[in-house]
Amino acid sequence: MLVPMRAILEAADHYGYGQGAFNMNGDCQVEAAVRIHEILRSGAILQGAEASNGFMGGAADFMHASAEEKRLGARRIGDQVKRHAGDSPIPVCLHLDHGKSLEMVQACIDGGYTSVMIDGSSLPYEDNVALTREAVKLAHPYGVSVEGELGVLAGVEDHVFSATSTYTNPLQAIDFFKKTGCDALAISYGTMHGPNKGKNAKIRREIAIATKECMMHEGIRGFLVSHGSSTVPQEYVQQINEMGGQLENAYGIDVNQLADVTRCGINKINVDTDIRLACTRNIMEMFEKHPEMQKSEAIGPVWEKLKAQPKNVDPRNYVQAIMATVIDGSGDKGDVRCVTDCMRTAVMEAIAPLLVQFGSYRKSHLIEAVTCEQMVDRYKKEGI
Ligand code: G3H
Ligand code: 13P
Ligand code: ZN
Repeated sequence: MLVPMRAILEAADHYGYGQGAFNMNGDCQVEAAVRIHEILRSGAILQGAEASNGFMGGAADFMHASAEEKRLGARRIGDQVKRHAGDSPIPVCLHLDHGKSLEMVQACIDGGYTSVMIDGSSLPYEDNVALTREAVKLAHPYGVSVEGELGVLAGVEDHVFSATSTYTNPLQAIDFFKKTGCDALAISYGTMHGPNKGKNAKIRREIAIATKECMMHEGIRGFLVSHGSSTVPQEYVQQINEMGGQLENAYGIDVNQLADVTRCGINKINVDTDIRLACTRNIMEMFEKHPEMQKSEAIGPVWEKLKAQPKNVDPRNYVQAIMATVIDGSGDKGDVRCVTDCMRTAVMEAIAPLLVQFGSYRKSHLIEAVTCEQMVDRYKKEGI
């Protein structure tokens, strides 16, 4: 069933485990993600970022998708999640990742998302507060949860590059929760987006501890989120490079540090890059093992594009030839199926170990089966 993110994070917080949140860019990925969460009996948070919504709306140039394409994509992902997870025994949340505008928030709510992020972290503090407050006012009447962000992660965040990070100030985080009424907050504490987090990146766990401690003192029942948390498995990098890739300085966050912060107040852990890497490795492997596929009319162009971009790990940049299948599942057979099956396997193998290491496996029964409709009254009662 579909639930708001608040229900999933309440269980994670109460029972002391971390909940992974995984970015989706294709019908086959949604299908596989739901399946692996079901097998491991974990609640699921599936995410669509602004660019994913654009891509899923059919924009090959997904970085510059129009509002209309994003709106269509949001509805398409919403429908897919309902189709693959509507009758699932596990609670599943569909969450907007790094939403930038109230327009995008509304489009996602209309499309069936049960949670949204509004990312005002690049704005001056008071403007971030005002924007996030507006998003809460928009989303809570639908029972939809809201995540905000405070502090700046180094690296590429939503395609805006920042050379240095500004760590989250725990006291300001308290003020932010109080003024906005948001359910969850992404903090900056040493992680970064993308595959180049630096060798031995160190999480400043004390920022999470201090923030959560202050929240408890102030009676704030909110959750903390760790973005940029891919682990960048080194064998993925090595195998991609052995097959012609050119990934340099690709290092992630040590998974032991992530498991540790689940005990320091972090409730949600965002992972996207690991899935991209696994897809790219698997698709390259398939073309190497089956060279006849390199000449296939249907998927040969995927191989050509993949080969031409040895530094790229994002499947959206090379699957254009089978775009229709990726975005809506149509025509998923024959040679095309060889690629989508690589993506299914990739999603499962990237996610499965993290569900175990973050501790959410075998916990789905602990999550309250509450709908967004039922959340509406709770928010009203609490006046948020
Ligand atoms: O934090 C950003 C996520 O990795 C989503 O990436 O905006 O390229 O879909 P995207
Ligand atoms: P990674 O790039 O580390 O996978 O981070 C993903 C993320 O934070 C999505 O919001
Ligand atoms: Zn992020």
